[in-house]
Amino acid sequence: MTPRPEIVRPELDGPFPEHIAVVMDGNGRWAEKRSQPRVFGHRAGVESVREVVTSCARMGVQSLTLYAFSVENWKRPEAEISQLMRLLKVFLVRERRLLMKNGVRLSGLGRLDDLPAAALEELRKTEELTGDNDGMLLRLALSYGSRTELAEAARQVALDVREGALDPDRIDDETLRSYLYDPLTPDPDLLIRTAGEMRLSNFLLWQASYAELYVTERCWPEFREAELMESIHAYAKRRRKFGGLVGKVREVVGEDSAGA
Ligand code: IPE
Ligand code: IPE
Ligand code: MG
Repeated sequence: MTPRPEIVRPELDGPFPEHIAVVMDGNGRWAEKRSQPRVFGHRAGVESVREVVTSCARMGVQSLTLYAFSVENWKRPEAEISQLMRLLKVFLVRERRLLMKNGVRLSGLGRLDDLPAAALEELRKTEELTGDNDGMLLRLALSYGSRTELAEAARQVALDVREGALDPDRIDDETLRSYLYDPLTPDPDLLIRTAGEMRLSNFLLWQASYAELYVTERCWPEFREAELMESIHAYAKRRRKFGGLVGKVREVVGEDSAGA
């Protein structure tokens, strides 16, 4: 087997985002601008997926979560859904070599049983094949909806309480987290949305509470390595405070004691 390409971290002015999540939006608009059918944009979007996955893996990003299909996307015309599902299936087969080469572990996130049998089968095969890889975790959010995830968690919490397996007085943030689809993967640090929309569209509502948001006007098919690097450099310049007073603690204490 060929050795995995060396991990090369970019030089940054600040921290590196260990977990990047992306709302890959604007495939349709990108195609419409070129007077092409929407599927043309979805196909070009697959190229961006390939490039961003490879580039993240080679930079040593720990987790990459791509919003590929939402629970609400089932409302789209049947023809578009089946084109998307076919592209998903082809991607899962074609990219296996690339995933293996880069040590990527792939995993589905969402109501995966909603997927057509053929796509689900290829997803499971790819998960199994890449399951022992110790490089980047690539989570594909498929038939994913954050509200559904939270409702399913609430239902399971209620069942566990009813069975006496869970004490309601002990439920806290971490308890609820343990009922989510993938409780062990740390929260995203950087959440990118392409095509300019300033909304989350039901993506990782719980997990993105403190993610740094980055919205670009570029459509997903135009989002390649250079745009990814731009977003990572922008992230490195952010000051994350998580509600605290990072770097200001002494100043505040000083003012307080001077006034006393
Ligand atoms: C993102 O592109 C792909 C999916 C949601 C599956 P869109 O298909 O939403 O493209 P726009 O937003 O219509 O341009
Ligand atoms: C969000 O994009 C879902 C995915 C990228 C898979 P949408 O295009 O579905 O979101 P809205 O409809 O603009 O909110
Ligand atoms: Mg869209």
